[in-house]
Amino acid sequence: MKITDFYSFKKGNKISMITCYDYCFAKIISKSEIDSVLVGDSLSMTVYGYSSTIYATEEMMIRHTEAVKKGLGDEKIIITDIPFLSTRKGIQKAIETAGNLIKAGADAVKIENIKGQERVIQEIIESGIPVMGHLGVTPQYIKYLGNYSKRGKEKQEANNLIKDAIKMQKTGCFSVVLECVEASIAMQISKKLKIAVIGIGSGKDTDGQVLVINDILGLFPSPPSFARVYERLDEKILNALNKFDSDVKGERNGNI
Ligand code: KIV
Repeated sequence: MKITDFYSFKKGNKISMITCYDYCFAKIISKSEIDSVLVGDSLSMTVYGYSSTIYATEEMMIRHTEAVKKGLGDEKIIITDIPFLSTRKGIQKAIETAGNLIKAGADAVKIENIKGQERVIQEIIESGIPVMGHLGVTPQYIKYLGNYSKRGKEKQEANNLIKDAIKMQKTGCFSVVLECVEASIAMQISKKLKIAVIGIGSGKDTDGQVLVINDILGLFPSPPSFARVYERLDEKILNALNKFDSDVKGERNGNI
């Protein structure tokens, strides 16, 4: 799959995207039907246990992108999040960070929000790096937003979201993620844009869906309510660990 294939998702099949942060999960995903992978800055929470995504650093994003690329190979698209503030320290710095993520194995980078960032996004794209936008709940702005609740419920906010999504397309983004956007507004945006709109907690009428792998596998202790849990791996892992423990300490007396 190539970045340009994203445009075809406007016409037919929906695009599936899942987050991934390490080699072993990437190996499994490489054998799946999933279309694309996001090395999300959610790793700050799911891998490192921080309270939000603002603690993800460029160094972390590079290392985890490298690990995912090793497991995934060339079959599936990898998009990596540009971490907190990296696009706010001047164009030079932003291009450098985006370049480092691409060299680590990403095919594209994801940038939250458009306000005050049109020029920097354009420069990154003109440097040859595809950019995916991210609107609605933008977790890097959590201190400003105050909470992760649904966006676009009020008319003014909904209109601003639609305008920002159009701006992202005009700026040259190849796709945009809508996180926790009122379903009817997400549907409207998906119909309006020529680029693929990937939803998360934004209803079913987008061009595709992304979810956090730790949430859907029952690994993250406090997943958002919109994330469907497809498997309770936490219970399976706990069982396996306790079986190992009892093998070590039990009748078999360490004979494993
Ligand atoms: O960091 C992340 O995992 C994300 C998804 C929630 C879209 O940005």
